[in-house]
Amino acid sequence: MLYRILHVSDLHTGPPFDPAVARGLVRQAPEFQADLVVISGDFVQRADFSAQWRAAVQLRDALPIPQLVVPGNHDVPLFNLHLRLLNPLGRYRRYMSRELNPCFERPGLVVVGAVTAQGLTTDGGWLSRQQIANLRRMLAPYGPEVCKMVVWHHPVFNPPGLHRNRVMRGSHEAIRLLDECGVDLLLCGHIHLTHVGSTRDILHDLRRGTIICQSGTTTSRRGYGQEHGRNSCNLIELEAQTITIHRLLFDPATDRFEPNGTHVFPRPLGA
Ligand SMILES: [Fe+2]
Ligand SMILES: [Fe+2]
Repeated sequence: MLYRILHVSDLHTGPPFDPAVARGLVRQAPEFQADLVVISGDFVQRADFSAQWRAAVQLRDALPIPQLVVPGNHDVPLFNLHLRLLNPLGRYRRYMSRELNPCFERPGLVVVGAVTAQGLTTDGGWLSRQQIANLRRMLAPYGPEVCKMVVWHHPVFNPPGLHRNRVMRGSHEAIRLLDECGVDLLLCGHIHLTHVGSTRDILHDLRRGTIICQSGTTTSRRGYGQEHGRNSCNLIELEAQTITIHRLLFDPATDRFEPNGTHVFPRPLGA
C-alpha cells in the first residue's frame, strides 16, 4: 500500500447537521490510518454565523492530520452583504485555511486543491483562467509515475437520477484540463450523493480520462436521492498498479461508516 486517503465532504455544521454522525466519524477516523484527510468543501450551512464556523473548526480539529481542504459555496456568506461583496472567502480563510491553492506532496503522489466556489455564488462554481493556468503549472513538474489528484468542491458530472444540473460551469473544459494534466483522480462533493466513475463516461475521446470520486454529505441530514437522510465518505487506497475507492455509508445501528461498495481502477487509467 502506497497511501491511504480519507475523503469527507459537505460537513455543513449548521441545521440539519447530525452531531451523532459527526461523533461517529471522529471516533472511527483514526482507524483508517489515512496519510491524508481531504475535506472537499461546504464546512458550514450558513457562512454568516460564527457559531457554525466554530463548530466546523472543532470538527476539523478532531479529525486526523494532515488535511487538505477547499471551500464550498456554503462557505460564502449569503446575508451579510458587506462580507459577501467585499470578502466572500474571508471567513473561510479566517477559520479554515488561508491557503486557497493547497498542495500535498509525498514521493509518488501529489494532491492539489482549488476554489470553485467563486465570487457571489449561491450554488454554482467554476474555475478562473488564472486557476486553470495555476493547475497546469503546479502539475507540470510531475511525470506519469506520480499519481496526481485534484480536489474541487463542485463536480463535473451529474450522477444518474439527478434532475437539476449541479455541475460546475465549463465542466467539459475542466474535464479536458484534467486529462491534459494527466490527473488520475478528482475528489469533489456538493451534490450530497456519492458517485464513482470516469470522465471517459462523459467525454469518450479523452486520452486517459480521470477517475471521479464524489462524496455525499458526511455529517448533514440533507443527503440527496438514494442518500436522502444518509451520510457517506470514501476511503481511497493508492497502490503501484491500482487505485481502489471504498464507498462508506453511515449505519446508525452500528454507529459507524460501513462498506457500501468498492471500485478498483488500473494505474495508469486507460492502460
Ligand atoms: Fe453541500
Ligand atoms: Fe455545495
